[in-house]
Amino acid sequence: MQGESTEKKIIVTGANGQLGHDFRALEYIFSDFSFLFLSKLEFDISLEHRVHEFIAHEKPDAVINCAAYTNVERAEDEPENALLVNATSAGFLADACKESGSLLVHFSTDYVFDGLKNKPYNEDDPVNPVSAYGRSKLAGERLIDEKLKRHIILRTSWMYSSYGHNFYKTIVRLAKENGVLNVVGDQVSSPTYARHLAHDVLDLLTQILVEQKHFEYGIYHYSQEGTASWWDFAREIVMNKKLFVPVNKLTTPDFPAKAKRPAYSKLDNSKFIRNTGIRPLSWKEGLTACIYNDFTENEHNH
Ligand SMILES: NC(=O)c1ccc[n+]([C@@H]2O[C@H](COP(=O)([O-])OP(=O)(O)OC[C@H]3O[C@@H](n4cnc5c(N)ncnc54)[C@H](OP(=O)(O)O)[C@@H]3O)[C@@H](O)[C@H]2O)c1
Repeated sequence: MQGESTEKKIIVTGANGQLGHDFRALEYIFSDFSFLFLSKLEFDISLEHRVHEFIAHEKPDAVINCAAYTNVERAEDEPENALLVNATSAGFLADACKESGSLLVHFSTDYVFDGLKNKPYNEDDPVNPVSAYGRSKLAGERLIDEKLKRHIILRTSWMYSSYGHNFYKTIVRLAKENGVLNVVGDQVSSPTYARHLAHDVLDLLTQILVEQKHFEYGIYHYSQEGTASWWDFAREIVMNKKLFVPVNKLTTPDFPAKAKRPAYSKLDNSKFIRNTGIRPLSWKEGLTACIYNDFTENEHNH
């Protein structure tokens, strides 16, 4: 019918977080979609009644859940708050999506693993989180899986971008302030640029919602290709930003922390690549793009 919109409607929750911001940044590229970006203030996913009412009213084609409790250290002191957002509330979204026939895209973490494997983790590897944050994210995965068939849970690792609080931004700031950096070299995974993850998610949703391709729902691993320690990542940031400060390599016990982190948590992307035809870029390509976007979108405005 003339004038009728064929755009697919997508709700993005937690839209003021780092990943939420990167979905916003891509809005203009994905014209098959009409987006509704909702901050925590506008749409608190822990309010069960509101979640049901709103999703039932909007009937989105997909909900991309970027809302989460992500403070790994604080979660050790308040595990119930982490569980409320990362599990119970994710369950509210799953129930609401089931009722409205919406697809739910949700994000989880490499911290569901204990880090003892020494080879990239695939989706079938046994989980064993060693932190309250990891346990809350695993509980969220399980609730969604129980409640809703049409879900995609993407476990990702070491996400960063030019928005929000993350390792990339901390390293740039500390290099400028301190002139020397101390970084752990014995935790290994893969840094993942949030903008590239968001882009690949929207490419996948184009396949599913617009091109109506068959897709096998469930859990997928998505991290940028290659592996790195935090020290490798810090050195690459410093070199690319031409900050010229020494980066000392330390070990995990040098940084007393409440939460335990897996020593090795590289995620194996094979299933994602096989089932989507989309290959994540390397973490070094991710970093180059982040620095470029950071410069063109933020720094030259100051
Ligand atoms: N960052 C990483 O390294 C990493 C790694 C692996 C997986 N992940 C996963 O990736 C996803 C996105 O992470 P991110 O780094 O973008 O996190 P983030 O920057 O902390 O953003 C999360 C957003 O959710 C909001 N939020 C918290 N509680 C909410 C609620 N009840 N209702 C609605 N919004 C709420 C937060 O608002 P406030 O800030 O105001 O609380 C924040 O804006 C999460 O599922 C996370 O677990 C992240």
